[in-house]
Amino acid sequence: PPPLKELTDRYVGSAVAAGPLASEADYRATLGREFDSVTAENEMKWSSVEPNRGQYNWSGADQIVEFADQNGQSVRGHTLVWHSQLPNWLQNGDFSAEELRGILQNHITTIVTRYRGSIRAWDVVNEVFNEDGSLRDSIWLRQLGPDYIADAFRWAREADPSVKLYINDYNTENINAKSDATYALVQDLRAQGVPIDGVGFQTHLATKYGLSDSFQPNLERFAALGVDVAITELDVRVDTPSDAAKLAAQAELYKRVWDGCLAVDRCVEFTVWGFTDRHSWVPGTFPGEGEACLFDASLNAKPAYRALNPG
Ligand code: XIL
Repeated sequence: PPPLKELTDRYVGSAVAAGPLASEADYRATLGREFDSVTAENEMKWSSVEPNRGQYNWSGADQIVEFADQNGQSVRGHTLVWHSQLPNWLQNGDFSAEELRGILQNHITTIVTRYRGSIRAWDVVNEVFNEDGSLRDSIWLRQLGPDYIADAFRWAREADPSVKLYINDYNTENINAKSDATYALVQDLRAQGVPIDGVGFQTHLATKYGLSDSFQPNLERFAALGVDVAITELDVRVDTPSDAAKLAAQAELYKRVWDGCLAVDRCVEFTVWGFTDRHSWVPGTFPGEGEACLFDASLNAKPAYRALNPG
């Protein structure tokens, strides 16, 4: 079959990790062949780029951007403001609100400026909501109050006038309390003139939970606000070990997400959170679950891949 990236004018992406990118030729080959966008799985997170205060390590992020450049791929930046994967100096630091605000502004300015021109879109804020639609407790909310969100978008825009700026979250694919809260926030930010261009739907699915019929209408209601929408971290885990029925259910979910995105004009990107079961965050995070990707550990196409790309 043709590569996935040739089946649509939308970006077809994958999360990538610098380790296998450096050491596994077959991983590089599949990534370069099938995808025209990449997202750093961890390498642009705060703990990766500034492990000690003021000491930056750009090596992993640079390797990914360089691979993308050489392979004609677009880059999604992930992520500027998050409650997780913060460096210890920040997580355990005792900063005043004023200091913390300066630290956040400096972080956003530094990383967005560094990759200006090489990154198409940034996940500016990641996972800011609880399941009930309230704002998630974090050092940002606690110390800076809810305005940290608007500030983050403004600082990112100052550093790069043309990069697309997104809010990103999980369990927002369907219409529910969390996606309602996201919708209300985006509407409010737009009304205030805050520079937000898009909404990312992580879409970490499991065959045992499925996907509701509200998925496509949900994408559509966000698009109607005048923003782009993107599938940013799709994977579909199964209870392991898998069998033919589970892989068929997985394939159907991948296909529904693909079809839903392609049916919405403003769905600009379909990105999976890793393309091979050889390297996936799922087994480590959800014990007893796994095999969540389009390709198996030997890089053979699974039923899910063939559902998207029957050839
Ligand atoms: C995950 C990575 O895949 C893991 O390697 C890491 O240990 C933890 O983070 N939502 C996100 C991603 O926005 O950044 C997360 O990535 C998965 C859930």
